[in-house]
Amino acid sequence: MNILITGGAGFIGSHVVRQFVTKYPNYNIFNLDALTYAGNLENLKDLEQAQNYVFIKGDITDEKFINKLFKGHRFSSVIHLAAESHVDRSIKDPLAFAKTNVLGTMVLLNAFKNLWQDNWQGKRFYHVSTDEVYGSLGKTGLFTETTAYDPNSPYSASKASSDHFVRAYGETYGMPYVISNCSNNYGPNHFPEKLIPLFINNIINNKPLPVYGNGLFTRDWLYVKDHAVAIDLAFHKGKNHETYNIGGFNEWTNISLVKLLCKLMDDKLQRPTGTSEGLITYVKDRPGHDLRYAIDATKIRKDLGWEPSLKFEEGLEITIDWYLKNTEWLKNVTSGAYQQYYKKQYN
Ligand code: NAD
Ligand code: DAU
Repeated sequence: MNILITGGAGFIGSHVVRQFVTKYPNYNIFNLDALTYAGNLENLKDLEQAQNYVFIKGDITDEKFINKLFKGHRFSSVIHLAAESHVDRSIKDPLAFAKTNVLGTMVLLNAFKNLWQDNWQGKRFYHVSTDEVYGSLGKTGLFTETTAYDPNSPYSASKASSDHFVRAYGETYGMPYVISNCSNNYGPNHFPEKLIPLFINNIINNKPLPVYGNGLFTRDWLYVKDHAVAIDLAFHKGKNHETYNIGGFNEWTNISLVKLLCKLMDDKLQRPTGTSEGLITYVKDRPGHDLRYAIDATKIRKDLGWEPSLKFEEGLEITIDWYLKNTEWLKNVTSGAYQQYYKKQYN
């Protein structure tokens, strides 16, 4: 079975690729990634010699290239993660998000349809999406699979649009698909433009910790390897034309999460308690900042038996240890273009 995983050199994608390559030696896993600023083959160094793994550098928006690739390898399934994924970047450059997340997804859907529309038996298009498509919650309530889409940022609008196209291909052409919408992931290999790895890196370097607005925005956090396991389960056991919400049952306001992170970092770095908290700096809010995301993951728990395996404090400690051990990785990804991005975003 030839399976295409897109975006496998990124944060979540690299954990999904590892999950499939190591657990299913009888599958041939093809990882297609354009290696943008967020893609990094260092994330997959341990798999370089694996017999059932191939890396292909390429862009999902390149229609000619994608059609040729699908014809050549006749992928029976696609697990699609490639995307522009950072909300702040989507505010600065929305068109890039429409191109990759909407057009890129359509190019893949079309190539898959052209290949299999006469025989969908045993085929599957698995689309990895986000809880942000549901918009923002108030102080109470949870997102379920039937919550209406109400995206607020160019990023979430582009992901919502790609979800709609996946469904439309299912309804119109009978394409078998599964979509999962997940909450905020954290863990090793997370690019340090997102809250947790950015703040770990800044604490290591004694730099300010820029908390947006009043810090009372709430996210539901899930350890990345638990997300990879959930994708594995829903890919194999999920029902066709279904959506599964994936979340950590683990809500934190940004400021309480940051304070916990500061405490753990002080311990790890053997600095006096309170040193890292002293770096907290409240800065201008993110435009259109969603107040609260919270996932009801009952369906995947009941139907597929999935549960997060780690408590947040445990996962966060493993994550911190990983960053403190992988200083070369951190140094490499924060040199060059990262510095320009940082200046533009925070100065
Ligand atoms: P990421 O930014 O770390 O990785 C994205 C990967 O896609 C990179 O390797 C990049 O090189 C690749 N890519 C980008 N444009 C491409 C293109 N045109 N062609 C081929 N490859 C391209 O993202 P992530 O955080 O790992 O997220 C992966 C997926 O999961 C995304 O679809 C995202 O919307 C979704 N998601 C993320 C989270 C989260 O908390 N990070 C939560 C829910 C869903
Ligand atoms: O909910 C799932 C989504 O989670 C994914 O679809 C996205 O790809 C992923 O990036 C993430 O989006 P968020 O916007 O929630 O993540 P981010 O890490 O950018 O921000 C988390 C919270 O922290 C958010 O409320 C904004 C705040 N924040 C973020 C940064 C980068 C700050 O206060 N300061 C910062 O410097």
